[in-house]
Amino acid sequence: EKGSYDHYMLKEIHEQPVALRQTLHGRIDGDDVSLEDFPPGSFEGVDSVQFVACGTSYHAGMYGEWLLSKDGVEANTFIASEYAASPAPVDEDTLVIGVTQSGETADTLEALESARQRGARTLALTNVIGSTAARTCDDALFIRAGPEIGVAATKTFSSQVATLVLLAERLVRDLTGSPTDDHAARLDALESLPEHVEVVTNDTQAADVSQRCLGDNGHFFIGRGNAYSVALEGALKFKEITYGHAEGFAAGELKHGPLALVTPETPIFAVGTGHYQNRLESNVNEIQTRGAPVIAIAPRTASGLVDTADEFLPVPATHPDLVAILANVQLQLIAYHAANEMERSIDKPRNLAKSVTVE
Ligand code: M6R
Repeated sequence: EKGSYDHYMLKEIHEQPVALRQTLHGRIDGDDVSLEDFPPGSFEGVDSVQFVACGTSYHAGMYGEWLLSKDGVEANTFIASEYAASPAPVDEDTLVIGVTQSGETADTLEALESARQRGARTLALTNVIGSTAARTCDDALFIRAGPEIGVAATKTFSSQVATLVLLAERLVRDLTGSPTDDHAARLDALESLPEHVEVVTNDTQAADVSQRCLGDNGHFFIGRGNAYSVALEGALKFKEITYGHAEGFAAGELKHGPLALVTPETPIFAVGTGHYQNRLESNVNEIQTRGAPVIAIAPRTASGLVDTADEFLPVPATHPDLVAILANVQLQLIAYHAANEMERSIDKPRNLAKSVTVE
């Protein structure tokens, strides 16, 4: 039931603190993690990780790849439908993780099957107990976000990424013999993530900023590192429910082509996390020289970015590896308020289904 909310999407955006508490419940154990079926040593023998997924779940997979790579674990992310067309090499030491909220996405199931047939170990990272992915993979890890009704994935993205932070801790320890860099501080910050998300869902500034997004021009989203996956996700959410043109770019790629699209009419959302900050600021300067309004989404502590931007949507300062999760919530609110203003069919956008069970 939607209760007092006009749309399931808005309800589910606001449910994120509760969903994340469920995701994390009992899984942080001091400066280590405690993951049901995956005690220490569960992944011994694995030498690399591949994520296969579609849409929003693909963006969560990219975030997972970034988390693993920075701590020395070989990881790659594949669009599931492309994985079937050009399968990456695997062997029995490859762990292939299907990131799928529903556990029923045909392209993802096909990619997992292709990996399984070639001898890889498979793991379903899913929201649905008893789903096809959970039943057919060697292992399953549940994100525990609760049911998501809106076609636009919101709370499941946050819970997928939070689960990936936990899983990365186990994988990095098992594969490298050491904990993740800065693990104690990051797990501490993860414990506070639900309350930090709540600060964002209680912030009303996205509704005003979304007024900039009602025109027919393009809307661009940029970030680096883990914020790149969130830039892509912000653009996907925006196009999916507003029907407006939106694209996400790796901030450093702008000058290799997309900068030609930038005009005073194209709002640019810049996601700042604290990682790669100076470079992001240079990208913002390049954009402003072309007259485009820049909306920074970052903690106030990213003062260089915050001071330069034309508008600013704040997120709480936390561990830089987690800031992009918070920024993503602001982008969900931007997409929601713009779509609402345009009277779009927010919970059931045209041409889309919640679960895509055809290839
Ligand atoms: O159920 P899945 O996570 O496998 O779904 C994958 C995509 O179809 C899904 O994330 C889609 O991109 C979202 N509706 C976007 O909001």
